[in-house]
Amino acid sequence: MPAVVIVGAQWGDEGKGKVVDLYAEAADMVVRYAGGPNAGHTLVVGNETVVVRLIPSGILRAQTRCVMAQGMVVDPAVLVGEIAALEARGHTIDGRLFVSDRAHVILPYHPLIDGLREGAADAASRIGTTKRGIGPCYEDKAARRGLRVGDLADPAHARAILERALAAWRPVILDLGGVVPDAGRILDELAPLAARLRPLVADTSALVEGALKAGHKVLLEGAQGTLLDLDHGTYPFVTSSSAVSGGACSGVGIGPTRIRRVVGLSKAYCTRVGEGPFPTELHDAVGERIRAIGHEFGSVTKRPRRTGWIDLPALRFSARVNGLDGIALTKLDVLTGLDAVSACVAYDTPSGRTREFPIDALATATPVYQSFPGWSEDLAAARSIAELPAAARAYLRFLEEQIEVPVDIVSVGARRDETITLRDAFA
Ligand code: IMP
Repeated sequence: MPAVVIVGAQWGDEGKGKVVDLYAEAADMVVRYAGGPNAGHTLVVGNETVVVRLIPSGILRAQTRCVMAQGMVVDPAVLVGEIAALEARGHTIDGRLFVSDRAHVILPYHPLIDGLREGAADAASRIGTTKRGIGPCYEDKAARRGLRVGDLADPAHARAILERALAAWRPVILDLGGVVPDAGRILDELAPLAARLRPLVADTSALVEGALKAGHKVLLEGAQGTLLDLDHGTYPFVTSSSAVSGGACSGVGIGPTRIRRVVGLSKAYCTRVGEGPFPTELHDAVGERIRAIGHEFGSVTKRPRRTGWIDLPALRFSARVNGLDGIALTKLDVLTGLDAVSACVAYDTPSGRTREFPIDALATATPVYQSFPGWSEDLAAARSIAELPAAARAYLRFLEEQIEVPVDIVSVGARRDETITLRDAFA
């Protein structure tokens, strides 16, 4: 049974927690392939609401195996904390959660450097990172001096790696006015965390391939979003990992032939956290209303998210770089009660109007909008497109035509049953 990828098609926060959980009901295995504790996925199952930053969204389902693959960066303290919180709620972790021996370890100096840099940056160069150490950890990986989860098994080897990395960072930390942490103390603090994680460490590439060969349904869960991807996003205002669907192959260690369907998640509007271009951003009462009704505040950092209209050229771009087969459209209900809803359909640029997303020239591009009548009816009870009000239906059909990708799922409320399902990705 081939794998299904779920990828954020915008700037992250598209509602992955709920949608991945819906798919996870059918999946035997859920695998996260990129990023680290910069993510925050809110899971709601029954009366239980849990925010996970590292552990894949399938963890609340007892029969699902969850894998943190090698494209991830893992903060052992955060992970052990999440494990303890889930165990305290009665969830079994050992034998169900696996961590790649090749995933890189976020060490205390990574968030330290991330925070110092953000504090020192001027307004133009500040990224607005989550300060979880994501960038510096992936820098160590690219510089070939990173500590991997598998290295934790050999303390002497881990010490040698750590000391080399710390020596490289020392001038940077001092230049930023920070205090260089002590390697011995870092290792002492790591020891009990490493001991807790040891039974979970595995060759997860082989584990996932084995599950696929056994005919299991495997869900590959992206984090962040396409426009935050290191290669394809609004560089340099991006995260440091490969968030696009292609990242699932390298981040897990399986080939592209194993992927059956790629589903892109998009809100019915758009949000962004942190700095960087956001052409359809609203700075008015409508933007405020969307933020309030959509609870658009970071699930981890609590930062208010910037809000705006849906950007169809950006979604067409996303459809291209991810090879989207379907769209899961979330939070349609948040637009209920607006007199009119708008969608960006094109851009005016110095060289004329374009339907393309001018990703590297957004500063000189002006969105062109098409407006639609709003609707006031509550959408939460709709379980089919026909049950939606005519205006919501017309908006939805327009989005589908413009993105040129069929809608697989429409989310009409926060609860998992408040969903219109049009296609089973695993079927
Ligand atoms: P970093 O990943 O912490 O380095 O942050 C880089 C950029 O990605 C910043 O603009 C963050 O706000 C953004 N970002 C990182 N993770 C998420 C996420 O899970 N959702 C939305 N934005 C994110």
